[in-house]
Amino acid sequence: MGLTIFLYNMNNDSLFNKSLPVDALKSIGSISTAWKAPSNIALVKYWGKRPKQIPQNPSLSFSLSACFTSTTLTVSYSEDRQPIIVNGEKDHPFAPKLTAFFNTMVAYFPFLERSAIAVNTENSFPHSVGIASSASAFASIALCLCEVEQRLMGNEGLGSAFLQKASFIARLGSGSASRSVYGAYQVWGYLPELPNSTNDYAIPVTPSFNPMFLGLRDAVLVVSTEPKSLSSTNGHTLMVDHPYADARYAEAKLSLNALLKSLRKGDMATFLMLCEQEALTLHGLIMSSRTSPILLKPESLLLISKIREYRQTSGLQVGFTIDAGPNIHLLYHDSIAAQVEDFINAELKPLCENGLVIFDRCGSGPERIKQ
Ligand code: PMV
Repeated sequence: MGLTIFLYNMNNDSLFNKSLPVDALKSIGSISTAWKAPSNIALVKYWGKRPKQIPQNPSLSFSLSACFTSTTLTVSYSEDRQPIIVNGEKDHPFAPKLTAFFNTMVAYFPFLERSAIAVNTENSFPHSVGIASSASAFASIALCLCEVEQRLMGNEGLGSAFLQKASFIARLGSGSASRSVYGAYQVWGYLPELPNSTNDYAIPVTPSFNPMFLGLRDAVLVVSTEPKSLSSTNGHTLMVDHPYADARYAEAKLSLNALLKSLRKGDMATFLMLCEQEALTLHGLIMSSRTSPILLKPESLLLISKIREYRQTSGLQVGFTIDAGPNIHLLYHDSIAAQVEDFINAELKPLCENGLVIFDRCGSGPERIKQ
């Protein structure tokens, strides 16, 4: 038992912590950095975690393009730590979460111990449409923070070591945020068959894929804009005593290997089949958990059956994934976008709340914002 707990908690924290002294900001006074980072949609879902945001299973996602968070971070020297200011306010709703996050960050960026922090953050997409804003928010903050450190070290490089640290830091804010520091496709979590995969940070996996998958689109069919009825924190907790937990963690690895194979081969039909199976497995797990919530709405099921019927009758390769909510992400390739979008407008839009559909696609990843 003791050994198990030790192994569960063992990670590469030491690789990333304590790089600069507490007084590192004193001579410079203040540094501002700004990044935009995308949200991402998981195809193999991260669902269940161990302490320190270690995932119970590896996950695979792709970064979006239109849905992103832009953040400016200003860190100024201060003898005493000051309350964090978010978008100009001390009492901003995001302030408690960010305060807790920055408290844990002192172990990795000791100069934060003597600092005043101001964060200005803005999402390109509406709140509560089922697109994870915590992923893009924490990824953009992590990139800003790592750039502050780089500048204090007089280091210009924003290469793979920089992104690894940013992913590691983002993970501590929100697990799925670890994946949002890269464009296109990424894996977070240890998968024995995937070299360099680790629970500590995400890695980009696109280079080995058929380039066709860079043309993947995601139309988010917004069934409901109500705030999430199950937070991801509570959702991960539901896996702790879940009767199917062990089977799920084993099966997620098989699904991930199969999906990677379809992405490498350019096998869209298998890819879509696996995405749908994963999405419905997530909801199956939620419904068979202790409190058995149902997050799908009648419209979600209608959308699923219309998508499957359209695939059957048109012969076009469309499929879906779903996050932990009622909204359906319709997946299709650039090359059939015109026909699929006619279908969306005619058949699917009427089932969405106020006809809301967010048209997005696989994106190229974070960008530094020029100031
Ligand atoms: O990163 P979290 O703790 O918000 O969890 C994300 C969970 C899912 O969105 C359901 C799946 C995923 O891998 O993004």
